[in-house]
Amino acid sequence: MSNVKLAVIYYSMSGTNYELAKWAEEGAKEAGAEVRVLKVPELAPQSTIDSIDAWKAHVEATKDVPEVTSDDIEWADALIFSTPTRFGNMAAQMKQFLDTQGGLWGSGKTVNKVVSAMSSAQNPHGGQEATILSLYTSMMHWGAIIAAPGYTDPVLFAAGGNPYGTSVTVGQDGKMVEDVEAAVKHQAKRTIEIANKIKSN
Ligand SMILES: Cc1cc2nc3c(=O)[nH]c(=O)nc-3n(C[C@H](O)[C@H](O)[C@H](O)COP(=O)(O)O)c2cc1C
Repeated sequence: MSNVKLAVIYYSMSGTNYELAKWAEEGAKEAGAEVRVLKVPELAPQSTIDSIDAWKAHVEATKDVPEVTSDDIEWADALIFSTPTRFGNMAAQMKQFLDTQGGLWGSGKTVNKVVSAMSSAQNPHGGQEATILSLYTSMMHWGAIIAAPGYTDPVLFAAGGNPYGTSVTVGQDGKMVEDVEAAVKHQAKRTIEIANKIKSN
């Protein structure tokens, strides 16, 4: 059994990254971790959210999901981030959250967190890999330890084979194109396994 504490931190406008976060929670719990699923604070004006039905519905459906704070980062041994791809980068809401952790970073409390990241985009080559890598760049500044999935399990091939982190394509209908559930769970378990090793030493 693991005693790893995991924070799954996500942003989602229409539910995809929330679903990825929930699968990560399931996988990590199966690995024995204590898990918090947390959303980053919204930045968009309410009028913009209200103008898009899917966005409005998703905000309403997840209103009870707690918002992440610095305390959650401090609490966690491991972090899994999930963010939509926005112009080949992470969503501004996720970046804003990272950029408000300067105090935590300055006090050394981001060091040795084991981190992994996931993303989605509308196109199969819409920038998912770049998004995950940009998040990992920030994590290197945090002194975190990146737990990328690589090709550590055959389930990753069925999910599109992104070795940096699970990513998925979202069709015009809002549904995921690839079946990535098993890859997300594998990534979560691997993150917990590595965090467990770091904690035990
Ligand atoms: C402002 C904006 C920029 C986007 N940029 C890209 C992009 O660069 N490549 C792409 O394939 N999809 C892009 N998309 C589509 C999103 O990646 C897609 O809607 C998202 O992954 C769905 O995740 P969610 O359901 O968790 O919100 C963009 C969407 C928005 C609103």
